[in-house]
Amino acid sequence: MKRNSLLFWFCLLLGIVLTISACTTNKQSVRQINDFTESWKFFLGDDSLASNEKYDDSSWRTLNLPHDWSIEADFSANNPATPGGGALPGGIGWYRKVFVADRSFENKDLYIDFDGVYRNSRVWINGQLLGERPYGYSSFRYDLTPYIKKGEKNVIAVRVDNSKQPNSRWYSGSGIFRNVWLVAVDPVHVDQWGTYITTTDVSTQSAKIKIATRIKNTTKEKSNVELLTTLLDANGKKITQTSSPVSIASDDVAETAQELAVNNPQLWSIENPYLYKILTQVTQNGKVIDDYETLIGIRSFSFDADKGFILNGEPVKIKGVCDHHDLGCLGSAVNYRAIQRQLEILKAMGCNAIRTSHNPPAPELLDLCDKMGFIVMDEAFDMWRKKKTTFDYSLDFPEWHEKDLTDFVMRDRNHPSVFMWSVGNEVMEQWSDIKADTLNMQQANLLLNFASTLSQKDTVSKEMHVNSMIALKLADIVKKLDPTRPVTSANNGTDTTNYVFRSGAMDIIGFNYHEQDWADSVFQQRFPNQKFIITESTSALMSRGYYMMPSDSIYVWPVRWDIPFDRPVHQCSAYDNCHVPWGSTHEKSWDIVKNSDHISGMYIWTGFDYLGEPTPYWWPSRSSYFGIIDLAGFPKDVYYMYQSEWSDKAMLHVFPHWNWNKGDTIDVWVYYNHADEVELFLNGESLGRKSKPNDVFHVWWRVPYQPGTLKAVSYKEGKQVLAEEIKTAGAPASIRLTPDRQTITANGKDLSFVTVEVLDKEGNVVPIADNFIRFSVNGNGSIAGTDNGDPTDSNSLKKPERKLFNGKALVVVQSDKTDGKIQLKAESDHLKTATIEIGTVMK
Ligand code: GAL
Repeated sequence: MKRNSLLFWFCLLLGIVLTISACTTNKQSVRQINDFTESWKFFLGDDSLASNEKYDDSSWRTLNLPHDWSIEADFSANNPATPGGGALPGGIGWYRKVFVADRSFENKDLYIDFDGVYRNSRVWINGQLLGERPYGYSSFRYDLTPYIKKGEKNVIAVRVDNSKQPNSRWYSGSGIFRNVWLVAVDPVHVDQWGTYITTTDVSTQSAKIKIATRIKNTTKEKSNVELLTTLLDANGKKITQTSSPVSIASDDVAETAQELAVNNPQLWSIENPYLYKILTQVTQNGKVIDDYETLIGIRSFSFDADKGFILNGEPVKIKGVCDHHDLGCLGSAVNYRAIQRQLEILKAMGCNAIRTSHNPPAPELLDLCDKMGFIVMDEAFDMWRKKKTTFDYSLDFPEWHEKDLTDFVMRDRNHPSVFMWSVGNEVMEQWSDIKADTLNMQQANLLLNFASTLSQKDTVSKEMHVNSMIALKLADIVKKLDPTRPVTSANNGTDTTNYVFRSGAMDIIGFNYHEQDWADSVFQQRFPNQKFIITESTSALMSRGYYMMPSDSIYVWPVRWDIPFDRPVHQCSAYDNCHVPWGSTHEKSWDIVKNSDHISGMYIWTGFDYLGEPTPYWWPSRSSYFGIIDLAGFPKDVYYMYQSEWSDKAMLHVFPHWNWNKGDTIDVWVYYNHADEVELFLNGESLGRKSKPNDVFHVWWRVPYQPGTLKAVSYKEGKQVLAEEIKTAGAPASIRLTPDRQTITANGKDLSFVTVEVLDKEGNVVPIADNFIRFSVNGNGSIAGTDNGDPTDSNSLKKPERKLFNGKALVVVQSDKTDGKIQLKAESDHLKTATIEIGTVMK
């Protein structure tokens, strides 16, 4: 007993030391924003006593956030999330963290900011309940100030309840899956999400910047301060400044409007996403008592019924993808580098837009979209009051939608990359049925409290269906907080009877699928002079490296959405010849969008494969086939079709691989650009030149297979542009490891994504290899996950071993916090072992 308690105090002290040293603060600023993600204790299970301050958590596991406990498990058909939710377990989990409120927190207000906890979180400090948050994708803050024990240890306890399943149509992950911050500020400070910055009269000659700043005063006295607002360029050079006296009553918030003018602004664009910084300083008696930074972009934009999307005066086609939030083998645990890598891969394809389907994203995604130049459709909900899965957010919607939507817009409205708000995806309220039409008084009050909230339309005198009223109310919440961006929603009901459209509240009409309705003639008849966007398209199905011939046959799977479908092989053809009945091939949907000026653009379902929704199959499939890029981040062939159409880079891509059986006849496809024809050679013999016919984005040959070398050459005006060769590979002989980055930051978070391939003895990549590889590391890092892009692989994605799938696997290596090297070794029976070194450098 005594030994146990000694051990407990030792662990506690160690925890405190680790905790304090784990806090990192931006040294230059007065405001302290501490990374509060290190050295948490975690327990998978429930214990009602775990919120108590004195609870003994010494037997719990120590880990760093962000954390997703679901991804650590093996996939199983028995998990109640079902394969639709990723076939991984949910459950209840507890997190606790001990920290000392040290001197630097003296006379400060202290807040804890959670970027997102999936789901139903409850948070306590020192045994005192701070609040709860059902929606797993919302960011939220609690004020710790009244409960904090200065100079002593304090305990934060978080209970996360993701036990009621299914509650999502895709993989959600479970736990404190986003970052956590401890913010210490002067009692007079910029409030949470306390700046709202908009730009007007934007041209390359000048622009006006309007800044609304909310300053909070938690003292018992009125406070008089000076609000100093400075515009800095991307190098931190001061451009202009303004200052205003502000008086804030005790326990109150005061909002101040300011304006700055800027000459010759650098406009934010997709090619040059230039970011300015607004530095907000609150000063009192000449001393800065709080400072706050907001990155902004100066750009003008509009949507036009005839010309589509206009950015800085020029029409720009939105070439976007929808993505869910999971990061492949890292699950839903947010990692900056993993998101950045996804966006880099998309950018190289020529993609310029992201839809955050179907929920508020991690803040890091928007930060990166700001920096890298993406047009974001920021989406709030997948359902409103009517459910899609048994325990989903519809149960919380009546009570929480106003708070969730408000916080979402407040958090995201300064991001220059955000151009549209989507208030919902394919909500059931598009249609009516008896369940949707009846509300009891309490529900009606919660949902439609118009008297206090609605200003946009005179609904009293106008008869309106309850479903339309919800749409109207949601749009109204958004408009009040941000009148500068249009509100839209993603609809699979594409005619005028749709109650969301009938609300009149959508600034842009958004269609999901139904490409037969996209033509100007059809659309204009239904929605005259309305702005139009394809919020979701395509839903083609493919597995990387799996080919079904003849390639000019189209497979529509499942045959009907409501009839179960199965085949012995749970893969889909990568020739762009397989799609769901509500979708289309990639070429078809892009062809319409490309040739229709009235369509602002499209968001393809999806950029990356994601865990869950393994349509057209069910178990043992557990992740999607929709991605242009597989779950491991390896492009499928159609990636290059988009690259040929969307990017300026000269490219040529020939596929499939060249390892077939004698007697096979193989369809060879080539995607290309910057050229007017392509010639194909097999073992040096020309199979002829071909050019793309109008509205077809590939050329192809039907080739009797002979082993050897297949070579494609593209020509412009008779001159060679590019050439690509693929060779028949022999038996697997050795392993090759290729890291995406050779040196990473030693910050405990950075990642190197290492591609694993197998070579024959001549050094050719074996494209059909399926060898089982074991990984191990030595030195200053660890293995964060492994994957291969196979939607049917039921091994946990955290295991340091993986079979190659169609010639590839991925191992993700994570740094620790020390300068040095990580040695990664890959071994497999009968293959030559490979070892590489990845440097870790402290910055
Ligand atoms: C859409 C839906 C997406 C996804 C997709 C698959 O209807 O909005 O979330 O389910 O279908 O095709």
